[in-house]
Amino acid sequence: METKSIQIQYQIYSIDELPEDIRALLDLAEQQLEMSYAPYSNFNVGAALRLENNKVFSGCNQENAAYPLCICGERVALYSAGSQYPDMPIKALCISARNNIKKLSIPVSPCGACRQVIKEFQDKTKHPFPIYIKAFDIKEVIKYNNAEDLLPFSFSKEYLI
Ligand code: THU
Repeated sequence: METKSIQIQYQIYSIDELPEDIRALLDLAEQQLEMSYAPYSNFNVGAALRLENNKVFSGCNQENAAYPLCICGERVALYSAGSQYPDMPIKALCISARNNIKKLSIPVSPCGACRQVIKEFQDKTKHPFPIYIKAFDIKEVIKYNNAEDLLPFSFSKEYLI
């Protein structure tokens, strides 16, 4: 038997410490909270990303009375960018969330499905990009430098071909 370990890094910032372009993306992600359609969970998620060509895309969660059809904000933003610029690397992805029932006190981590999709965008463009996560009610922001730090041991196309 052999025990192995991995190291995952992340940085904790106050929003005021971040560069202007990232604060603008976080701001856009938080504007998206207003567009979120979440009558069932009352939980809003907004995401915004900038591509290497400087085009910006954003999205928010979209729920449905048939619950499994709900789609996360991160994937709305990512697939929207992917459908316009399929091969364009991402410069940065910012995510924020708001719980309308109780105040969130820590940055909100994306669900496993969205992490897997984030990883695929990194893989297909061969371009690691930072992911910033936040919650609406707080100033703290966590930065992951790449998709692996957010999702180690991801499934990938290496298994398929
Ligand atoms: N949600 C997201 O948009 N992103 C995540 O990473 C986790 C959850 C949404 C889905 C649903 O509309 C609501 O938050 C509650 O789960």
